Amino acid sequence: MRIGLLTSGGDCPGLNAVIRSAVLHGIKSYGDEFVGFKGGWRGLIEGDYTEITRHDVRGLAREGGTILGTSRTHPYNHPKGGPENIAKQMKRHDIDAVIAIGGEGTLAGAKRLADDGVPVVGVPKTIDNDLKATDYTFGFDTAISIATDAMDRLRTTGESHHRCMVAEVMGRHVGWIALHSGMAAGAHAILIPEQKVDLDQVCEWVEQVHSRGRSPLVVVAEGFIPEGDDEALAGKGHEADGRPRLGGIGEWLTGRIEERTGIETRNTTLGHIQRGGNPTGYDRVLATRFGMKALDLAHEKAWGHMASLRGTEIVQEDLASALDGLKAVPAERYEEAKILFGR
Ligand code: F6P
Repeated sequence: MRIGLLTSGGDCPGLNAVIRSAVLHGIKSYGDEFVGFKGGWRGLIEGDYTEITRHDVRGLAREGGTILGTSRTHPYNHPKGGPENIAKQMKRHDIDAVIAIGGEGTLAGAKRLADDGVPVVGVPKTIDNDLKATDYTFGFDTAISIATDAMDRLRTTGESHHRCMVAEVMGRHVGWIALHSGMAAGAHAILIPEQKVDLDQVCEWVEQVHSRGRSPLVVVAEGFIPEGDDEALAGKGHEADGRPRLGGIGEWLTGRIEERTGIETRNTTLGHIQRGGNPTGYDRVLATRFGMKALDLAHEKAWGHMASLRGTEIVQEDLASALDGLKAVPAERYEEAKILFGR
C-alpha cells in the first residue's frame, strides 16, 4: 500500500514516534510506501507532501514535535476541502489510505471523511488526556513529568522566601494535568475546571500551610473559574475562537491570594513548555504501539476506526467514540486528592 500520514491540531510529544513505528512496521511487514502530508489536513487538501523513507524516521522516537508540521485546518472548512477533492488528491498521488494523528477535532474530521468514503484511520493524541475513546494518550505522561519537575523547583524557591507559589498548567476543559502533576508534587491546592471552589477556600488552604511555616503550592488548570467570581473570567480573556487564553487565571489568582492573605505570592505559567521537548519512555512506547496498530487497521481496511489503549492492550475503536464528549476528572478522583489539601 501507499500510505499518507498527517499530524493535525496542537502538537504533542510522541507524534514522531507514531510516524516512525507506522513507517517501519509498514516497510518491514508489508512492503508499504509512505508519504507525509505537511501541516495537517492542509497538506492533504493541497497535495503538499513529501516521501518518507526508512532513513527519514531514523532516531525519531525520541524527538518531540512533528517532522510533518501541524495546523488546525479542518478538512471540511478549507476552501478546497471536502471528500471529493481529498479523494481526487489521493488518486492523483496514488495514495491508498490516510493515517490521521490528532485530537478530538482531527478525529471528528477523520470520522466524517470515512463516512463519506475516504479511506482514513486515526491515532488519538492530546496532552490533556481528555479523550474518552482511549484510557491514555501519549504526551500526557511527558506533560506530567515536565510540570512535576517545574513544581519541585517552585517548592525550593518558595520555601526559601516563605512565599505562596502558584503554578498554572494546561487544561482548557479538563484538569487531568493539574490533578496528576499536583498530586505528584504534593500541592496544597489543585484547582480544575470540573470543580467549583471559591477563593475563601483557596485562601484558607494557603493560610493553613503558611501558618505551619511552609510554602504553599497552588496548582491551577488554565480553564478553572473560581466559584461566584465573574471577574476571573474577565481577567483570563479568551482567544478569537472562544477558548480561554493561556496565562490568565494563575496571574489573577496570585493577586487575589496576596491581597486577601497578605502572603507574598508568585505565579508561574508553564504554557507550551508542557508540550515541548522529548517524550518520556512511557509516551514513546505508547506512541510506537499506536502507530503500529493504525498501520494494521489500514491493511484491514478498518476505515473510520482508530488505535486506542484499554488497560494495557492496544485495541481498535470506532472513531465515533472519540466524539462522545470529553473525559472529565471524576468527582471521586478530585475528592481523593483533596484529602491532602491545606493543613
Ligand atoms: O494540546 C491541548 C492544549 O495543550 C490545551 O491544554 C491548551 O489550551 C491548548 O492546547 C493551547 O493551544 P495553542 O497551542 O493553540 O495555543
